[in-house]
Amino acid sequence: MTSKRLIAANWKMNKGVAESQKFAEEIKAYTEQNNIISCDIVICPPFTSLDAVHKKIDGTKIKLGAQNVHFESCGAYTGEVSCSMLKSCGCDYVIIGHSERRQLFHETNELINKKVLKSLDEGLIPILCVGETLEEHQDHITEAVIDEQLKSCLKHVSAEQIEHIVIAYEPVWAIGTGKNATSHQAESVHNFIRKKINKFTNEEKGDRLRIIYGGSVKPSNAKELFSSQSINGALVGGASLDEKSFIEIINSAL
Ligand code: PGA
Repeated sequence: MTSKRLIAANWKMNKGVAESQKFAEEIKAYTEQNNIISCDIVICPPFTSLDAVHKKIDGTKIKLGAQNVHFESCGAYTGEVSCSMLKSCGCDYVIIGHSERRQLFHETNELINKKVLKSLDEGLIPILCVGETLEEHQDHITEAVIDEQLKSCLKHVSAEQIEHIVIAYEPVWAIGTGKNATSHQAESVHNFIRKKINKFTNEEKGDRLRIIYGGSVKPSNAKELFSSQSINGALVGGASLDEKSFIEIINSAL
């Protein structure tokens, strides 16, 4: 099983350019002073701050990610951004299929699949988000929901390509609610995902897959979540907006 954790900051629609640059400088100083090598750090600012953040972190171990992408290369798609544009801003990662995109912008598994395939083709690492709603959680159908999301969103993804994907298990009932899954709950879903990926690939790719948890991760619960070896990091929303709390979460993952 992969041991290096990945902590990603998903700023959502927050922070302008100056604020983003200030954050990037502080995280950069922290990683350099503390020689952080046992954990990968990814910052996912809004599109408008990608270039500015990249200029601050270029040459460091901190990586850049976007929060969304379009599946076409270019053309008449007003308001959309392509993989090559993200790469030209210095992105290595892209969040795909976040529950806010699914719920508020009606993204389907089919659309998410197109974005995953395009990102892989263009050499971006997708952080593919899956997770059940509160209703599905209460109906005890979490595994069936995740199974369907994985099957549809990873359609036509080869066993080799699976290695270049990060899966974020984000129970929708835990996002922005302050209620997080326990390490035990997350671990059981992470193990389910690994089993499924092993089955899809006919190989043990699932065992090596990096599966991170997202949903109200904060300094006060990060240690408990990272007590599970099956939780290979975190996708952090609200608590990643503040430098100090984001750094505390990274420290808990080391
Ligand atoms: P949250 O968001 O940490 O604010 O719950 C997580 C996410 O949406 O990725």
